Amino acid sequence: MTNPYARPRLIEFHEQPYTPPAIRRPVQDMLTFAWTHRVWPLQHTSPAVLAGQVLERVLRRIGGKQGEEDKVAVVDFCSGAGGPIPTIERVVNAHRSAKNLPATPFILTDIHPHPAAWSNLRHSAAALDYVPRSVDATRAERELVGIAGKADDASRHFRTFFLAFHHFDEKGAQAVIRDAMENADGIGYVVKYLASLAESELQSQGKMPTGGRSWVWEQGREAHTMGMGKMYYIVGRRADV
Ligand SMILES: C[S@@+](CC[C@H](N)C(=O)[O-])C[C@H]1O[C@@H](n2cnc3c(N)ncnc32)[C@H](O)[C@@H]1O
Repeated sequence: MTNPYARPRLIEFHEQPYTPPAIRRPVQDMLTFAWTHRVWPLQHTSPAVLAGQVLERVLRRIGGKQGEEDKVAVVDFCSGAGGPIPTIERVVNAHRSAKNLPATPFILTDIHPHPAAWSNLRHSAAALDYVPRSVDATRAERELVGIAGKADDASRHFRTFFLAFHHFDEKGAQAVIRDAMENADGIGYVVKYLASLAESELQSQGKMPTGGRSWVWEQGREAHTMGMGKMYYIVGRRADV
């Protein structure tokens, strides 16, 4: 399957290797602000709360049978200054706490880590942690989860990508999804046709960790801004979890 049109790829000045941190960091902070605040009266809730509600439903399915659940960590890639993750962590873990379930750890990562912002977040959220070294989303090993102390007992992990795919050309975006399908148990907020391409390639190379079985994909949309804005999501999980 090919895309009938060229997928737009945006270059962001603040993320270029030559951009000094003094410029990159405030832009990353601004994106986080846009995720976590609502525009009254157009938005009934912030985009981050909406994403948290979707993720909470998906994580329940990845953990396995209720009562004998495996611990699932959420590893966020391309995290910038944190984006929606601290809010999502709060939404997900408030649900879990109300059901007497253990908290889900959330791990922040980026090719340009932002430890100054992340260590503040870690202090204010018991289940939030980060990987201090550079993590490239196109090649991230499964063991990454163990580097963050708050998630080292998680046996499964779900990878999230927020405002990330416009950075990658077709090859790069497929590499990100392929890496996730080989090394993780679930993946969220991706581009569906790229996921299908990545899956076909893995299958033709006999590399599907699920023994050739397809992943299970779910997509939907939630209105976030009155009359105009919708959040589209696509999440997938291994067929055997
Ligand atoms: C637009 S920011 C999104 C930040 C945050 N997720 C949000 O929603 O506000 C994209 C981030 O992707 C990171 N990035 C770009 N290429 C990457 C790669 N190959 N691996 C990991 N992170 C990457 C950049 O450093 C940047 O912080």
